[in-house]
Amino acid sequence: MTSQFTVSGLTKTYGANVVVDQLDLAIEEGEFLVLLGPSGCGKTTTLRCLAGLETPQDGSIVFQDRAVFDAQAKLDVPAHKRNIGMVFQSYALWPHMTVRDNIRYPLKVRKLRERISAGAVEAAADMVDCGKLLDRYPSQLSGGQQQRVAVARGLVAQPDLVLFDEPLSNLDARLRDQVRSQIHQLHKRLGFTAVFVTHDQAEAFALGDRLAIMKAGKIEQYDAPERVFENPVSEYVAAFIGMANRLELRHSHNGWITSAGDELDLTHAVVRDSADYGTSAVARLRPDDVLLHTSMNEVPHGNVALHAELVTYEYGGRHFDVTVQTGTERLALRADAAEHGAVLRSSRQGAPYVVSFSPASLRVFADPDDPSPTVSELATAGAGGQL
Ligand SMILES: Nc1ncnc2c1ncn2[C@@H]1O[C@H](COP(=O)(O)OP(=O)(O)OP(=O)(O)O)[C@@H](O)[C@H]1O
Ligand SMILES: [Mg+2]
Repeated sequence: MTSQFTVSGLTKTYGANVVVDQLDLAIEEGEFLVLLGPSGCGKTTTLRCLAGLETPQDGSIVFQDRAVFDAQAKLDVPAHKRNIGMVFQSYALWPHMTVRDNIRYPLKVRKLRERISAGAVEAAADMVDCGKLLDRYPSQLSGGQQQRVAVARGLVAQPDLVLFDEPLSNLDARLRDQVRSQIHQLHKRLGFTAVFVTHDQAEAFALGDRLAIMKAGKIEQYDAPERVFENPVSEYVAAFIGMANRLELRHSHNGWITSAGDELDLTHAVVRDSADYGTSAVARLRPDDVLLHTSMNEVPHGNVALHAELVTYEYGGRHFDVTVQTGTERLALRADAAEHGAVLRSSRQGAPYVVSFSPASLRVFADPDDPSPTVSELATAGAGGQL
C-alpha cells in the first residue's frame, strides 16, 4: 500500500542539538496518527517541519505524489502552499477578529472565495457547535469554545493534512473529554488525515488509528494502539504507556529472582530479546494487573506472589491506589474499595501484605545497566557456545 504522506530521514538541529533525528514516518490517507512522547522529545518540531514552519537540515517530505521538502534537491514549499490545517495548544485565535473572521482566515489566505460565499465558514462553525457564536470575539468565549473554534478554523479549508499540537492540554478534564470526542467524531465523519501530538497516553489510545512513540527525535515504536499496549518494544515504551511498575530481576541457579529474593518463573511472561540477556533483566507491569492479598492463601493458582509491605494508599471512590514495598522496589496497584477498604484503613505503614500477578502480564526487557556480556557479544568475540 502506498502512503499518502511520507517522511524520510528527517533531521532538524538547533546548533549542536539534534532535535529530530533521521525520522521516518508513513501516514495513510484518512489515518489518524498520534505522535506520543515526553516533553522535549521533538514532537512540535516534527509538526512544524511538516507544516513548513521550520526548515530541516536533511531528509524529505512527500504529500501524495508531491514533494514539499527535499534537502538534497533544495526544495522547500512554503507553508501556505502545503494545504495543511493546524490546531495548536494555545488556541491562537486572532483576538481582534470575530469568530467568523477567525474561521474564514484560512480561506482568505488561500483565496478560496467561492467557499466563503457557499457558506463553508458557517458549516465549519456548526460542525463544532459554535454556529451561534460567529459574531463574538475570542475574549467573549470559554476555553472550550475557543478550542472548538480553533478546530473549525483548522478544518475549514478541507486541508490534505490536519496537524494538532496538544490541542486539549489547556482544557479542564471535563472539557478535554468533550472536545476529544468531538474531534474523534469529526474525523470519523470527514475522514481527514491527521497527525495529533500529545503526551497523554489515554488521549493517544482513544484517538489513534496508529501510535508513533517518540524518544529523543526518533520513533521508538510505530504500531496499532492494541499492539503498543500489549507489546511495547522497549522498556521506554512500556513505562510511557502506563506500565509504571519496574522489577529488577537477577538470574540465579534456580532461575529468575526479584530483588527481594522471590522466585519468578518467566515461562509465561512476554520476554523481548531473550537471547540477549546477561545475568539481569527488567520487568514492567501495569498497576491494574497487580492484586493485593492479606495472606499467601488468597493468591490465585498460577500467579506469582511477592511479599510486600504497605507504604501508602489513596481513596479513589470504587478503588484505592496502593503503594507497597517489595525488596528494593515500590509497586503501585489498584485495589477494590469494597474488598480491601476496611483492612487498608486499619493498616499502618509497614503492615505485611502479599501481592500477586499473572506472569503473562509481565513484559521483560534486557537490563540496560547489566555489565555482564550478552550471548550475542560472546558470540561475536569468538567465545560463543558455552551459554
Ligand atoms: N527554536 C529553537 N531553538 C533552539 N532549540 C529549540 C527550538 N525549538 C525547540 N528547541 C529544542 O528542541 C527540543 C524539542 O522541542 P519540541 O518543542 O519539539 O519538543 P516537544 O516534544 O514538542 O515538547 P513538549 O511536549 O514540551 O511540547 C527541546 O529540547 C527544545 O528546547
Ligand atoms: Mg510541543
